[in-house]
Amino acid sequence: MSYGKKIPITRPVFDQADLESVTYPLKSGWVAQGSWVKRFERAVASFCGTEFAVAVSNCTAALHLGLIALGVQEGDEVVVPSFTYVATANAVEYCRARPIFCDVSPADLTMDLELLEKSITPRTKVIIPVSLFGVPVDMSAVKEVSEPHGLLVLEDAACSLGAFFGGIHAGTEARAAAFSFHPRKIITTGEGGMLITNDIQLADKVRQLRDHGASRSDLDRHLGQGGSLLPDFDVLGYNYRMTDIQGALGVSQMSKLNLFLASRLEAARRYDTLLADLEWIITPQATEEATPSYQSYVVVICREDKRWPSLEEVDELNLFRNGLMARLEEQGISTRQGTHAVHTLGYYKERYGFRDEDFPISFMSDRLSLALPLYDGITFDDQVYVVESLAKWTAGRGRTRTG
Ligand SMILES: Cc1ncc(COP(=O)(O)O)c(C=O)c1O
Repeated sequence: MSYGKKIPITRPVFDQADLESVTYPLKSGWVAQGSWVKRFERAVASFCGTEFAVAVSNCTAALHLGLIALGVQEGDEVVVPSFTYVATANAVEYCRARPIFCDVSPADLTMDLELLEKSITPRTKVIIPVSLFGVPVDMSAVKEVSEPHGLLVLEDAACSLGAFFGGIHAGTEARAAAFSFHPRKIITTGEGGMLITNDIQLADKVRQLRDHGASRSDLDRHLGQGGSLLPDFDVLGYNYRMTDIQGALGVSQMSKLNLFLASRLEAARRYDTLLADLEWIITPQATEEATPSYQSYVVVICREDKRWPSLEEVDELNLFRNGLMARLEEQGISTRQGTHAVHTLGYYKERYGFRDEDFPISFMSDRLSLALPLYDGITFDDQVYVVESLAKWTAGRGRTRTG
């Protein structure tokens, strides 16, 4: 039975300034990649504290170009966590390189750094740690493994604009990092992505690659001299440009980033408190140095004593999780599986012959994770309603099991 309440999984927030922002490029007549994209890039670089930011059409494009710019080629191996959105591994496949999966840690669902070393072979070129759901990875721990092997690190920080580790912004300690501005992220430009780096050559290369490989951008040709002739195209590029309409919206959204982050953090803390006594649920954990951006608030359905189950117990708990999601939906509450175990997806299973249990924590996280509604402006009452609904159904489970 539905109570007529509707609580979405997320809700992007657009105010009057956002609405006006998109009219600036429209009124100017310049709507493709131009000065608004530049301003958006400067805003992101300045917020994160990097020298360069290069906007592209989405985060997957940023990862793809980042890998090419780092020299990844056919036959190379790139280590990625097995519990992440499929785009992380797909970017590696686009380069005809091989993603080498590394399981995640049950502590915070990011790459298990104890296992990372074992994933490295003489063919490894790059490591892509993922700051999943906005939980920043400990880059000094990643570097302890990558540096002795001379490996480059490209951080997938799709969800992590505004996340900090030890006071340092996510992505800034890697050679480069990629953000997403999809509507489920901290700020949105509809679709959109950005690569940040302190490496000028890498930034230049990605700028060129996003624009068909052109040696000079349209804006430069328009503003400068000698723009009548087409520039050189001496590398194979792509059209991964962001539009100025998105750039203008991005600038406007950036001006509210700190407010969005504060509101998400407050809502996450409220869930932490409200969910603390609930059996069957592990709330998101992060180390003391981490300040997550809370792109998502992802809990794990577990055993009654708040412990991770064994592999044998997963199927039963998975049925329970799926039933729970269906019941919450009936109550008007949207939830989502946290993300997926990429090695269990059809393409990767078929191509590399993985079994579910090859990366057990990722497999269990796929089957047992549950993202709760979280967005700027979710009310305390809505969160109480979510938690009370969860409590009702999880308590029901306890009774069923004990008779
Ligand atoms: C961890 C991660 N990487 C990459 C992406 C891809 O981002 P985009 O949709 O902007 O390409 C996402 C999107 O959800 C993501 O969560």
